[in-house]
Amino acid sequence: MKNFTNVNKAVFPVAGLGTRFLPATKAQPKEMLPIVDKPLIQYAVEEAYEAGIRHMIFVTGRNKRAIEDHFDTAYELETELEAGGKEELLAVVRALTPADMDCSYVRQPRSLGLGHAVLCARHIVGDEPFAVLLADDLMCGPQDGPGVLAQMVEVFAQVRSCVLAVQEVPLAHVQRYGIVAGEPAGERLVKVQQMVEKPSPDKAPSRLGVAGRYVLTSAVFDAIRNQPRGSGGEIQLTDGIAQLIAPEGVYAYRYQGKRYDCGSKEGFLQASVEFALRHAEVGEGFRDYLRGLDLSA
Ligand code: G1P
Repeated sequence: MKNFTNVNKAVFPVAGLGTRFLPATKAQPKEMLPIVDKPLIQYAVEEAYEAGIRHMIFVTGRNKRAIEDHFDTAYELETELEAGGKEELLAVVRALTPADMDCSYVRQPRSLGLGHAVLCARHIVGDEPFAVLLADDLMCGPQDGPGVLAQMVEVFAQVRSCVLAVQEVPLAHVQRYGIVAGEPAGERLVKVQQMVEKPSPDKAPSRLGVAGRYVLTSAVFDAIRNQPRGSGGEIQLTDGIAQLIAPEGVYAYRYQGKRYDCGSKEGFLQASVEFALRHAEVGEGFRDYLRGLDLSA
């Protein structure tokens, strides 16, 4: 693997309300919902860390304190675990915040859209390229291979312009995604010529949908700031990136791996079942349990 020192910061927009998971998300952030035993946000942070990123920037909102607490030291818990000789659990808790990882928190005061959330992190990101990870999208790299963001950082090191993770989506679902179209520029790369947020199926320029992983140049901040509101009356990240197509070039990367749309109940359940099957502690027993289920009912 090449070194990844060119992308050092990741932005996690986590201010969303999570209405699709009410009532579970009434008093807790949707990003704290666990897949087996780990909250969604932790999977995303671990993916960024694996990609060489050490500065995590969370764009939070009201009711999101649990995320800050999750990535903070928990003295009482650690002391109790230590006193009880629970070394394994202690290691699990401590591994959450490696010594070389920094976390910053910035509030998004109003829900004005994903582009606006990213713009809130501008003063911390500064003039560097950075990643954006949407924790709702749980991304799994190929077995024993690099994670999705690590793949993208590698691509960014070559193209030096924005890289978006994409996958083919069913025509009936294009309205849920930022959709890109363009020219092939390599085995997994597409040079983007057109980009539109949540088009209707008859207006979609392709079926290539953007998954929640981006590596962006800092030029996107000015683009977002100067654009009018877009789809749903919100300040869209997609529209900001689209403005960079002509001046800088934008690449779509067909990632290797699998995406679970954990913003939907179906995707969340699929991820729960598949991650449980792979889980070192419960996987085997859970597989036996599933085998014994009568699914004909
Ligand atoms: C956001 C983006 C969209 C992207 C999607 C991926 O939409 O606006 O372009 O395709 O994430 O999950 P949301 O799912 O927040 O509505």
